[in-house]
Amino acid sequence: MLKLASSISAERLPELLRRMPKAELHIHIEGSLEPELIFALAQRNGVQIPYASVEELRKAYAFTNLQSFLDIYYAGASVLLKEQDFYDMAWAYLRRAAADNVVRAEIFFDPQTHTARGVSMETVINGLYRACEQAHADLGVSASLILCFLRHLSEEEAFETLEQALPYRDKFIGVGLDSSEVGHPPEKFARVFARCRELGLHLVAHAGEEGPPAYVWTALDLLKVERVDHGVQSTKDAALMQRLAKDRIPLTVCPLSNLKLCVFPQLKDHNLGQLLDAGLVATVNSDDPAYFGGYMNDNFIQTFAATGLTAPQAYQLAKNSFDASFIDASMKRRYTDLLDATFAAFE
Ligand code: ADE
Ligand code: ZN
Repeated sequence: MLKLASSISAERLPELLRRMPKAELHIHIEGSLEPELIFALAQRNGVQIPYASVEELRKAYAFTNLQSFLDIYYAGASVLLKEQDFYDMAWAYLRRAAADNVVRAEIFFDPQTHTARGVSMETVINGLYRACEQAHADLGVSASLILCFLRHLSEEEAFETLEQALPYRDKFIGVGLDSSEVGHPPEKFARVFARCRELGLHLVAHAGEEGPPAYVWTALDLLKVERVDHGVQSTKDAALMQRLAKDRIPLTVCPLSNLKLCVFPQLKDHNLGQLLDAGLVATVNSDDPAYFGGYMNDNFIQTFAATGLTAPQAYQLAKNSFDASFIDASMKRRYTDLLDATFAAFE
């Protein structure tokens, strides 16, 4: 398939990138909340927001680093109060994902952002889960939830959150770790992750987004994560790169996020090609598409245009997304067959 793909010209790449089936493995559902929906929910729920219009809010989306984004992202999530709000947000994302030929989505949610405001865990999970079920039935998109702990909060608060979520254990497949990275290393959550591992949950963590390669090492060795979210700082450590390649630890890379949060000065400087060349299981994802200017296909198309990645690399990235996902082997095969058929039909 890779040999076949090499004959596809650069002009036809955007269409191929749009058409190919893919999995999205790094999407914060609260980061899919578009300004229009923030305003609609604010009005529906009688919540005040400190912006006069959608345009004014969008203008505030000029970030200098991760924290400058997180401050506005948590403020945006304050309009979510009812189960229907969580459903509406997730349903809007899933429809958008289906339009980009995303056939599988593993969706992060941040329950502590909501429980801290008095919204119950039941409200959050039931709303999101209902949208995932609907996506399967109506859009043919398979979607699962991953509960993220906020790393700027304490270990004790993470344990409390886990306790609150356990009655809904059948509605999420794993746990992750997100929010402010630097100063909150993975080891802070080693005991929580050990407990989640005993419970049979899948484990992922953000590491090496802004933080050093050392955080990727501890995410692997202490948290025992199965995937690393971002991980782009790993190229600074040759031994780490070898480890990630040898153990086939996937990285869920988010190019437009990295650009907007100034992790790379320009998209042409992104190291996605370097990660692929080193044999890593790198994938492309949108992170917080409502804030970073693009969903899945925007990430693919803009990154390929800026860096000169080619059709065989498009195939590899889509294949990696299925290999890296938490679906069973038979589903991986089905999606990879669909990918092969899409490439074959394109030529
Ligand atoms: N929460 C939402 N987006 C995030 C990101 N890119 N890094 C860390 N935490 C996040
Ligand atoms: Zn993220």
